[in-house]
Amino acid sequence: MSNEGNAKTLAQHFTPAAVAQLAWDAVRTLAGKELGAGARVVDPAAGEGALLAVVGRAYQTTGIEIDEGLVERGRSQADRFYTGDGLLGTFPAVVDESFDCVLANPPFGKLGPMLPLLGTDGPRRLALRFRLLDRQKQMRAFPVESLFVERALQLTRPAGWMALILPEGFLANARQQGVRDWLLARAEVRAVVALPGAFDKVQTALVVLRRGQPQARAKARLIAPLGKRPSVEQYAQRTQLLLGAPSSRGPEAALLSVGQRALHARRWDPRFWQGRVAVRRLAGRLQLVPLGEYICHLTYGPIVTGRRPQHVEAGVPVIRQGDLAETGLDERALLCVAPAGAHDPPRSRVRPGDLLLSRSGAGALGRNRLAVYLGSGPANVGCFVDLIRLEGLNPFYAWFFLKTRLGREQIAAQANGVGTPNISFGEIRALQIAALPLAYQEVLERRYREQVWPLHCRRERTEFRAEAEQRFCAIVGDLEDHLQTRRQ
Ligand SMILES: C[S@@+](CC[C@H](N)C(=O)[O-])C[C@H]1O[C@@H](n2cnc3c(N)ncnc32)[C@H](O)[C@@H]1O
Repeated sequence: MSNEGNAKTLAQHFTPAAVAQLAWDAVRTLAGKELGAGARVVDPAAGEGALLAVVGRAYQTTGIEIDEGLVERGRSQADRFYTGDGLLGTFPAVVDESFDCVLANPPFGKLGPMLPLLGTDGPRRLALRFRLLDRQKQMRAFPVESLFVERALQLTRPAGWMALILPEGFLANARQQGVRDWLLARAEVRAVVALPGAFDKVQTALVVLRRGQPQARAKARLIAPLGKRPSVEQYAQRTQLLLGAPSSRGPEAALLSVGQRALHARRWDPRFWQGRVAVRRLAGRLQLVPLGEYICHLTYGPIVTGRRPQHVEAGVPVIRQGDLAETGLDERALLCVAPAGAHDPPRSRVRPGDLLLSRSGAGALGRNRLAVYLGSGPANVGCFVDLIRLEGLNPFYAWFFLKTRLGREQIAAQANGVGTPNISFGEIRALQIAALPLAYQEVLERRYREQVWPLHCRRERTEFRAEAEQRFCAIVGDLEDHLQTRRQ
């Protein structure tokens, strides 16, 4: 197989040294004396040995790597290094329940493409070795990282430790809930440290686990970076401090402590918990109402497979994700489609005052792109734009609220997972909105119409656009301050 082929099929994304150090320091801090000199550490998917390289000579290190091309370098990083399959292979010094710590950044993705590497009886042997496959009808679609999690559990001695770098999907996807609960019945989650930007194509987190029945008093420490992304080194330092002394404060990262039971049937990613905690804090002071209670119509634009919309002069404008600018709808280059055609169904025609939300993608939903439709003529929405018609809630207020930290965190918490971030109708309806008096909501609308909209309409001039954005930011900032201080 070519190197490129290997990299893809085997999900080879190697751990940067600073992240490897963070992972090892984290598990050592949490384990304390339980992971002293002489402890046995294994990486069953070791690549070039990046994780084992930071462990240090005082420990006994073992690596397994399936790609022969990586083994030579790997060998120099570990006491023992085997070429072969870390899931099914047998090796002289690799005995189940014999390691004090499994340190791994396993491959992730569907098992299917890897099956040919495991031999013709691979599926049968996998089914025998892995309990997680017991109820799986579709072995090929099963996430390979989950099998490595089970393998880590098999290799760890009772009360031993695991530090695993896993894709966010493992922590956040509803489909992986069964695996998370299965693991939680067999190990304590001691820490989940978000690692944004550590790898190019996938968001990951470090999960530190201790094998054994979870004890109620053992808290999971969930850590995520704060504000502008700190450097890996700063973040690692702060993480280290937070794990050692949870009450310490600093600008680089935030920590939440969550009980083991609370993790059952829920997501494990720190962002999700940050969103929950922020909502709970606000709910102590203000009445929060699910957005769904105000929604009288919720839909998205037509999905017409195989036919891209063609521009039709004097047709009906279609609002697509890219048309939602920071300060409102940018109507300058709207595509127009044939009226009443497949791309202009009546159900998704917009009305003045409709709230438009960009549903998908890091560049749109990731940036919370929203707008209120202020046009008067007929228009429709594209397939990635949700149309939200509200009753009893000012749509401008809803827009600004969703731009506050509280709104952003709620949306970010929903929009997790591997691949393109997305938010479903159910998740939109569940967003919690502070029920502020309508008169106050209208004040915000007036401010927008008087101070932002006129500049927004002349946004082709950079200085107007910048000023519009600043004024928009000020409205959202004032609302945020109001939410911080107001009591009901
Ligand atoms: C995400 S990379 C991480 C490598 C290394 N642990 C690191 O942190 O840099 C996963 C590694 O697992 C290897 N791999 C994939 N399937 C494997 C298997 N069944 N057994 C052993 N190694 C495997 C890949 O070749 C790749 O080197």
